[in-house]
Amino acid sequence: MKNVEILGTGRAIPSKVVTNDDLAKIVDTSDEWISTRTGIRQRYFCDENETADSLAIEAAKKAIEASGLSKDDIGVCICATLSGDYATPSMACMVQSTLQLREDIATFDVNAACSGFLYGIEIARGMLCCSGEKYALVIGCEQLSKLLDMNDRSTCVLFGDGAGAAVIGVTDDATYASTLGARGGQEILANGPGPDPSNIQMDGKAVFKFATSIIPKCIDELQKKSGFAVSDVSKVVCHQANERIIDFVIRRMKADPEKFYKNMDRYGNTSAASVPIALDELVRNGSIKDGDLLMMVGFGGGLTWAGALIRYAGKK
Ligand code: UT7
Repeated sequence: MKNVEILGTGRAIPSKVVTNDDLAKIVDTSDEWISTRTGIRQRYFCDENETADSLAIEAAKKAIEASGLSKDDIGVCICATLSGDYATPSMACMVQSTLQLREDIATFDVNAACSGFLYGIEIARGMLCCSGEKYALVIGCEQLSKLLDMNDRSTCVLFGDGAGAAVIGVTDDATYASTLGARGGQEILANGPGPDPSNIQMDGKAVFKFATSIIPKCIDELQKKSGFAVSDVSKVVCHQANERIIDFVIRRMKADPEKFYKNMDRYGNTSAASVPIALDELVRNGSIKDGDLLMMVGFGGGLTWAGALIRYAGKK
């Protein structure tokens, strides 16, 4: 069975910065409450000229450029999202048409909420390994600002918009492992029935408890499957929901805090975009170099979870 490695990454961040102080003018909250409870200091929202599609397209274009491949090399196009502009066409189809990717490739969206990007990588791996195709484009993109109730301080302070993408390619390298899972429940709801069906609602405490138990479980599984521990990888990229979740996991696992990347202070929780945005930052700021191993862990709505131990191979 062949595995996959990362060849190039990209991200797209909307232009409108929304600080905690900006939110404190709208709802009864404060920079102090938000930053101490979550680590979030600001997030980005799309302005009137930006959409989920435009972010996904920009991130995808940058990832293809960074991979050194041509758009015609892409053999699968997957976008992970829960906040696409339309139910159909999918965001992946919008990316395909705008970037003029080939027409003879599987092109579709995946909804596994905050685990979606890693679900996308694993689905792409399966498709690449069963076909003659060598490369896949996997995007995580959200415009969560359009799903927020700006009167609900318990949720509107948490989320932001953004997109990240990666081009992955098949490899004979054996150092790869993945884990996926789900435990269906309604702890996080969006676009459901109710008085305002579009809003995100969340049982924060239940999700916090879930997150702090599932991250170590994913990391343990990856270690068992691959033989590589946190100490062997350059970085652990967890879904950026809350700084306290990551700090709790570091303490519980007695892990080196330096290994765990955090950027929720600048972006908030961008669901499916959170892991690939962090990945792209690490690649572009030189913290992840060609040949490095990394662990990525997603968790959230569904409830779902996903982990991957994967090599960043760099440009083809
Ligand atoms: O991407 C999906 C994954 N999502 C997550 O991982 C989220 C996991 N959960 C969390 O991160 C935390 O549970 C939250 C950050 C969402 C909430 O933190 P908490 O420590 O669980 O706070 P809480 O919900 O228990 O609220 C504590 C108090 C309440 O007031 P009372 O009842 O004690 O008087 C809330 O009404 O804080 C109040 N509160 C706020 N106060 C100021 C809730 N939101 C706010 C706010 N500003 N924005």
